[in-house]
Amino acid sequence: MDYHRNHHARELFDGIAAQYNWVPDLFSFFQYRRWRRYLVANLQAGPDSTVLDLCTGPAGVAMLMARTHHCRVVGVDLSPKMLSRAQHNISKNGLTGQVPLVLGRAEDLAFADESFDAVSVTFLLRYVDDPESTMREIIRVLKPGGRLLSLEFGVPSNPVARALWQVYTRGMLPLAGALVSRGWNKVGAFLGPSISQLYQSNTEDSIRESWLRLGIEDVQVNRLSLGGAVVMWGAKERVTEDSGR
Ligand SMILES: C[S@@+](CC[C@H](N)C(=O)[O-])C[C@H]1O[C@@H](n2cnc3c(N)ncnc32)[C@H](O)[C@@H]1O
Repeated sequence: MDYHRNHHARELFDGIAAQYNWVPDLFSFFQYRRWRRYLVANLQAGPDSTVLDLCTGPAGVAMLMARTHHCRVVGVDLSPKMLSRAQHNISKNGLTGQVPLVLGRAEDLAFADESFDAVSVTFLLRYVDDPESTMREIIRVLKPGGRLLSLEFGVPSNPVARALWQVYTRGMLPLAGALVSRGWNKVGAFLGPSISQLYQSNTEDSIRESWLRLGIEDVQVNRLSLGGAVVMWGAKERVTEDSGR
């Protein structure tokens, strides 16, 4: 198995964990918190539910889910520094016990089949070699009928918005990152090209078709902030004798 992308992601995110609580919000003109709120509003969960939050980072999404839906949330990430920041945030917010954390890779989850009532994934696809097999592994741990939710960056489709996005991500973001730290400068330079590459090899339609192939139904998509973010959600098919799954 090729762990190259995992190493790259770990190095990248370990290097920016200390400032992750505030920089993404600032660099997205405070849209980041809106995207997270929208994702969490689409979660269907309650006090008896256990939700998996993949790529939990500093646990921003995980804590919002726990507070909004009163559910238990298991946060998974491959960056030890992100998880230590997450632990700090969870303790500070009095959510210890409700939001446990696990160091792990989305490609190879240490959980039994069908163990979660819902799963959320944030900004993962650009860091894996094989998006479809990774999604298969993620869907494996979701209970039938449970909701899968994802948040990814997007590329605006309107030509004017896309031109502005191009100038911002290629020119301004690396410079803004450099004002924060070397780690953020790296992320700032990497982000724009990596988002463009994702959609060159996997169009939004092909991601949606992949979800359907993997047994996710009622797939819905909403683009936020002129297409700068894409939220997708659907439910895992229930097994019936007719479906043969
Ligand atoms: C942009 S951050 C997510 C932020 C977070 N969900 C939040 O609250 O806003 C993306 C995270 O994905 C993690 N990551 C990248 N590749 C991964 C993989 N293959 N498995 C697990 N985590 C991964 C990174 O370490 C990073 O913390």
